[in-house]
Amino acid sequence: MEKTYLDCLAVFGIGGAHPGGLLLTKKLLAEERFHENMVVLDAGCGTGQTAGYLATEFECQVLAVDYNPLMVEKATERLVKLQKDIRIEVQDIQKLPYEENSIDFVLSESVISFTTPTMSIAELTRVLKENGKLFAIEMVLEQPVSAEERKEIMEFYGMEQLWSVNEWMVAFLAAGLTIQSIDVPELETDNEDSETATDFSLSESIEEDFHNILSQHLIVTENYKKQLGVRIFKCIK
Ligand SMILES: C[S@@+](CC[C@H](N)C(=O)[O-])C[C@H]1O[C@@H](n2cnc3c(N)ncnc32)[C@H](O)[C@@H]1O
Repeated sequence: MEKTYLDCLAVFGIGGAHPGGLLLTKKLLAEERFHENMVVLDAGCGTGQTAGYLATEFECQVLAVDYNPLMVEKATERLVKLQKDIRIEVQDIQKLPYEENSIDFVLSESVISFTTPTMSIAELTRVLKENGKLFAIEMVLEQPVSAEERKEIMEFYGMEQLWSVNEWMVAFLAAGLTIQSIDVPELETDNEDSETATDFSLSESIEEDFHNILSQHLIVTENYKKQLGVRIFKCIK
C-alpha cells in the first residue's frame, strides 16, 4: 500500500504535528476555563502531546482519539505515565461512538483537514454539548492555485479538499455552529526552545520512503508558502 504523509507522521511519532506546535496550543487554551467535570476531546490526538498538556494543566477529563493505531500506541506510551484522567481510543472522528451532547470542548489541531470535513464537523458538532466549543487549527488556501497545483497539494497530503477561509466558514455554519473568531496564528519559526521544538517518538525501523515523504513535505510547504496558510477557528454550538 502506498505510504502517506499521515503514515509518515505516525512512524516518526511527531508530537505537536500542527502548525505552531505546543506553544500555539498553550496560547490557544490560555484563556479557557476547564474543570475536572469537563470532558475535552482531542480529536485526532496524534502522539498525545496536547492531551497530556490538557490533563496536566487543567485537570479536566481528556478523551484522546485518533484513527491511526500506531499514533494511539505512541500516545498511550506517553500518557499512561502521567497517571491522569485520560481515555485514549482508536476512533474515526467522522463516526464516533459517543452520545450526542456529551462533550464539553473539542480540539482539532490539524485534523479535520485530513478527513471529509463536512462529515467530521457534523460529527464533532453532534457530540458537543449545547454551548460547547470547538477549536480547530486548520490549513487554508490563501490564494487561488491552478488545478494542477491544487492536485499536487491535495494528493501529497491525502486531502479531499483544500478550502479557503470562506469555505471553512460555510462548513462550520452549515453544521449549526456559531463562529466566534477566526485568527491567523503567530507561528514562531526561529525560536527552537523546548516548547517549539518538535518531539519525536520514533518507530524502531523507518523505511527510506518515509524520509522522502518528510523531505517532500518541506518542499511543498516552501513552494506553496504564499498559497497555504493556517487559521484558528473558534466555534460554539
Ligand atoms: C497532522 S496530524 C496532527 C496530530 C495532532 N493533533 C497533533 O497536533 O500533533 C493529523 C492526525 O489526524 C489523525 N486523523 C486523520 N484523520 C482522522 C480521522 N478520520 N479520525 C481520527 N483521526 C484522524 C491522523 O492519524 C493524525 O494523527
